[in-house]
Amino acid sequence: MQFSTLSLEPQQSSTLLVYLDRPDKLNALNATMLDELDQLFSDASLLSTYRSIIITGRGKAFAAGADIAELSQCVEETGEAFSRRGQQVFARIESCTIPVIAAVNGYALGGGCELAMACHLRFAATTAVFGQPEIKLGIIPGYGGTERLVRLIGLARATEYLLTGEHIPAERAHALGLVNRICDPASLLNEALAFCSLIERMPPLAVTSILRCTHGAHPFDGYLEAHEFGKLCSSHDFQEGTKAFLEKRQPNFRGC
Ligand code: COA
Repeated sequence: MQFSTLSLEPQQSSTLLVYLDRPDKLNALNATMLDELDQLFSDASLLSTYRSIIITGRGKAFAAGADIAELSQCVEETGEAFSRRGQQVFARIESCTIPVIAAVNGYALGGGCELAMACHLRFAATTAVFGQPEIKLGIIPGYGGTERLVRLIGLARATEYLLTGEHIPAERAHALGLVNRICDPASLLNEALAFCSLIERMPPLAVTSILRCTHGAHPFDGYLEAHEFGKLCSSHDFQEGTKAFLEKRQPNFRGC
């Protein structure tokens, strides 16, 4: 399978290592990358070849969010569809029948944090940085972040981070329960691979049943999030926030 934004590195064990591979844009999730993730996680014959999947990022980021250049083109209707599309792809990852581990090597912001949260487990380098900074662009998380962050770290803390858009360094993320383990950056992939080898010795049917119970028991909804996301796409503050990012300047929000 040939992709332009993902690189696949099958390991000698039964693990498939997947790199998000747009390092010059900090692996920002554009439409092509979402399509390619969708294709990968829909390929039943490929998935049946492996016992686990690790997703990591090429370069200094895991993923710095949805591609703001693409996002900035959204208006209300296309904004809601933009959000729905990401939600759909991430729900597919979450419902994968083999364990999917995010090995978070650097920035996991916005859609990058949402992708990590859609994986079953998160291992992070000590240098990783999480966060949902969308509010600083005049928008909200649209790929499941408003639901999954609440589930993972609780309503009060999630509300705080969603409202401030503050970065969450790896150690804090670990203390909050957002990540399972933090590792030295040089050993991140080895630790994730060692964990996969451990799970690969477990009975596959039971592994799948556990994932179905832990992650499938409370299906993700996302309707309200996508609706609010779409509405915000018609606001001045969204146009200004995304434009300011692309022009590398501070935004001037007006509340309209
Ligand atoms: N979408 C599109 N492009 C992005 C991006 C995104 N989410 N995040 C980073 N990039 C691009 C930058 O525009 C820049 O491109 P350029 O070299 O062509 O100008 C390149 O990636 C490097 O990013 P830069 O901002 O110069 O790196 P930095 O080390 O100074 O800062 C971050 C890193 C992650 C703090 C900063 O890039 C950032 O805040 N990104 C946006 C995070 C965000 O708001 N995500 C939510 C999106 S909905």
